[in-house]
Amino acid sequence: MAPSAQPLTTSVPDEKYANVKWEDLGFGFVRTDNMYVAKCKHGENFQEGSIVPFADFHISPCAAVLHYGQGLYEGLKAYRTEDGRIIIFRPDQNGLRLQAGADRLCMPYPSVDQFVSAIKQVVLANKKWIPPPGKGTLYIRPILFGSGPILGSFPVPEYTFLVFACPVGRYHKDNSGLNLKIEDKVRRAFPSGTGGVKSITNYCPVWKTLAEAKAQGFSDVLFLDAATGKNVEELFASNIFIVKGNVVSTPQISGTILPGVTRKSIIELTRDFGYKVEERVIPVEDLLDSEEVFCTGTAAIVTTIASVTFKDKKSSFKTGEKSLAAKLFATLTDIQMGRVEDTKGWTVEI
Ligand code: COI
Repeated sequence: MAPSAQPLTTSVPDEKYANVKWEDLGFGFVRTDNMYVAKCKHGENFQEGSIVPFADFHISPCAAVLHYGQGLYEGLKAYRTEDGRIIIFRPDQNGLRLQAGADRLCMPYPSVDQFVSAIKQVVLANKKWIPPPGKGTLYIRPILFGSGPILGSFPVPEYTFLVFACPVGRYHKDNSGLNLKIEDKVRRAFPSGTGGVKSITNYCPVWKTLAEAKAQGFSDVLFLDAATGKNVEELFASNIFIVKGNVVSTPQISGTILPGVTRKSIIELTRDFGYKVEERVIPVEDLLDSEEVFCTGTAAIVTTIASVTFKDKKSSFKTGEKSLAAKLFATLTDIQMGRVEDTKGWTVEI
């Protein structure tokens, strides 16, 4: 697979900002300057990778990722602070989750140190693409996949760990609250499957469902558990929380729920606010009967949910500045953007 480790381009002028209309940023691909590539061949450990110019690459038509879906992705963000620092949020947690996923998909993986170092290198090599404070973030996309050819027999001769980054704005444009559809036929994850890791195979199989829901005017889909079809699991790409009085609940990590880094952080912040947090099975009726519902994720951050429709019946929830979701959003983003002191050790300055 190309590219081979070419030297980092020096022809790019060292401007503070790339030529981007930051106000128009959505959540889409923007080609940046550089990416990180490391390889692992024939069962050895991952070699030290390097920064190379961002480019398309060649891959064997027989690569394991193309035929057998042997691939994982991660998502995390870098932030530019008002006082000119650059910080990333809990990168070690993404490194650990990548390792758990690699283990599930029979792939070797980089050490957490190598993972975090790769993230830092990519951020620095694309520094001018980090949006000004308040205008967006640099979304970092690490991927790990079987790049070597394999037809039927194990082992896969080569793996690639690659990290690139794109400046992004809000993932959900509608700040006033999402309108979700509870999907009662198609399931996202099943017991003993890969729902609990960030396998690339978890997403495309539910695109059709998501597209149909969007065509009906919904913002996103909430999936139910495959075993009973009675309990809520997660959205297309974010975890769900419900609020009733002083108790906040979220589905327990059981192999079908993605252990979100934002989910974990929000559980801690919610407890700091004095709420009781329960990680448990959440029947649909329980959610429909909530005062407030919100979702969390690297892309979604904390997004309030205005309504949920189940079998054509719509239930509405509290939204707005006084909601817990709004308070959690403010607290989390204050930490992520370096506006308050990080007493939790979650941010890493580059
Ligand atoms: C993330 O939040 O990082 C995700 O993986 C969601 C993706 C659909 C952008």
